Amino acid sequence: MRYESDFLVIGTGIAGLSCALKLARHGSVTLISKKERAESNTTYAQGGIAAVFNPKDSYEQHIQDTLKSSAGLCKMEAVRMMVERGPALVKELDELGVAFTRTAAGDFDLGCEGGHRHERIVHVKDHTGRDVELALLDVVRHQSNIVLLENQLAIDLITEHHVFTPTPACDAALNCWGAYVLDATTHRVKRFTAKATIMATGGCGQVYLHTTNPRIATGDGIAMCFRAGAAIANMEFMQFHPTTLYHPDAESFLISEALRGFGGQLIDSKGVPFMERYHKMKSLAPRDIVARAIDAEMKKSGERCVYLDVTHKNADEIKNRFPQIYAKCKSYKIDITSEPIPVVPAAHYSCGGVVTNLKGETDIAGLYACGEVSSTGVHGANRLASNSLLEALVYAEQCAISAADFVKKKDFRFPPIPFWDDQGTFNSEEWVLISHDLAEIKNLMWDYVGIVRSNLRLERALSRIRLIRQEVENYYRRTTVTDGIIELRNLATVAQLIIQSALWRKESRGLHFTTDYPHPHDDYLQDTLIKQRII
Ligand code: FAD
Ligand code: SIN
Repeated sequence: MRYESDFLVIGTGIAGLSCALKLARHGSVTLISKKERAESNTTYAQGGIAAVFNPKDSYEQHIQDTLKSSAGLCKMEAVRMMVERGPALVKELDELGVAFTRTAAGDFDLGCEGGHRHERIVHVKDHTGRDVELALLDVVRHQSNIVLLENQLAIDLITEHHVFTPTPACDAALNCWGAYVLDATTHRVKRFTAKATIMATGGCGQVYLHTTNPRIATGDGIAMCFRAGAAIANMEFMQFHPTTLYHPDAESFLISEALRGFGGQLIDSKGVPFMERYHKMKSLAPRDIVARAIDAEMKKSGERCVYLDVTHKNADEIKNRFPQIYAKCKSYKIDITSEPIPVVPAAHYSCGGVVTNLKGETDIAGLYACGEVSSTGVHGANRLASNSLLEALVYAEQCAISAADFVKKKDFRFPPIPFWDDQGTFNSEEWVLISHDLAEIKNLMWDYVGIVRSNLRLERALSRIRLIRQEVENYYRRTTVTDGIIELRNLATVAQLIIQSALWRKESRGLHFTTDYPHPHDDYLQDTLIKQRII
């Protein structure tokens, strides 16, 4: 086990892995993952990576599509960097061994998704994320400078909070020196110290009852950075994916937007297409519009789902292009080549997160963030489909460049860092308390802070979450830490950040729609920023 290194990278999705690979040229890297190494949102990504390879396409057009989707809130220079640097990094993945699907001529086969005016999605059939994750893990395995440790759950960042006694004059943590981490196999908390720490812990879809995200997506990185005093932005912009499989036994399996790009059409239970009533791009309209349209159709009809129909396409082509979706649906006795797929929206992607600049720097020295945990300014109020893997690649590289520079420049000395103090805590077996609070958070977020919001629902959600947070915080302070209580604490924090951000935004923009203020307003053409004082 290595407890001190130049770089600590937290998370082994596309962001953490690609950042670690770039950092390995500059020093020792400890890379940790709270579960088994491949368990990440990345592994479940289906559609692919948006990047300009189509001769009819251009950087300008990809930038324009991204800006349009963001509803006026993204940062032009951040988007430009992502779009222009993206293709080179996709080529790097190709060289690392990701077997991207190709045309007969040998070019990348490019898919289409909502909000894109051209085919521009590089993919590996319908399991792009899995192939990218495995290829990156394979390269990491051969790097002598990287130590990858599984089942290591970061609890909190090590900052001035732990090293000095904060005084009223000291209202912000200034430096980060690593993290306290729970070893889930020994149940001991250890100090992982590092000159630079890179947060790459992904999103927080698990804060909602229905989500496409796997269990690891509990918003740990956002909550840790928030507690440390970093700025958090735009948490109200939770993206709901319009189409997840509706089946009592399916745990939110995604039906990729690429299926609509391939010609799939959204229909109601009578077989009537309905998207033309909502947007000129019909089933391929931006995600916020499609998700709200489905929500409205379901509320109007009282039905529990709508359908995605691809039966008019060639059956062999469907099976070849979407083998995973075909097999999964078949396992639930739905043959997508001959019958429409029942679908519902589910929480999918956090557009907000830890604020970074173009270099991936947060406002705490020595702390960087990339991937879904971060808010780089590229998504604004709504992420364009398949821009997430792209953003993770580009900003992981930026983090690596800046962290390497930071470590090089400094005459580095760690302050005395105390061991984890669990004196006075007791072992509690009260799993029922955790599971009850967890269910309450997920239900209240789904019912009151979902696709369509209102002041009344948000205020009710806020008063409930305040109580839950208080309860969870008291329980956390009294008990010996476990993964369950750590994740619950983080989910409660993230839920409150989402609710408070949503209440602040008294307008509807992008993914945030409230019946009290159904239109955008120029006063709110700005990020929602939340920052906690350390005392
Ligand atoms: P993740 O891949 O989620 O990795 C996070 C890592 O952090 C994991 O290893 C996790 O174990 C670790 N971690 C978390 N908390 C801790 C902690 N406390 N301590 C230690 N480790 C921790 N985007 C696209 O661009 N194109 C797509 O086609 C696409 N399809 C998607 C399909 C699905 C079903 C889902 C869920 C998402 C999809 N997305 C897609 C979004 C995209 O996959 C994610 O945004 C992206 O993979 C996030 O990468 P990441 O590296 O930031 O985080
Ligand atoms: C999908 O395949 O529909 C997901 C794409 C994304 O989230 O970007």
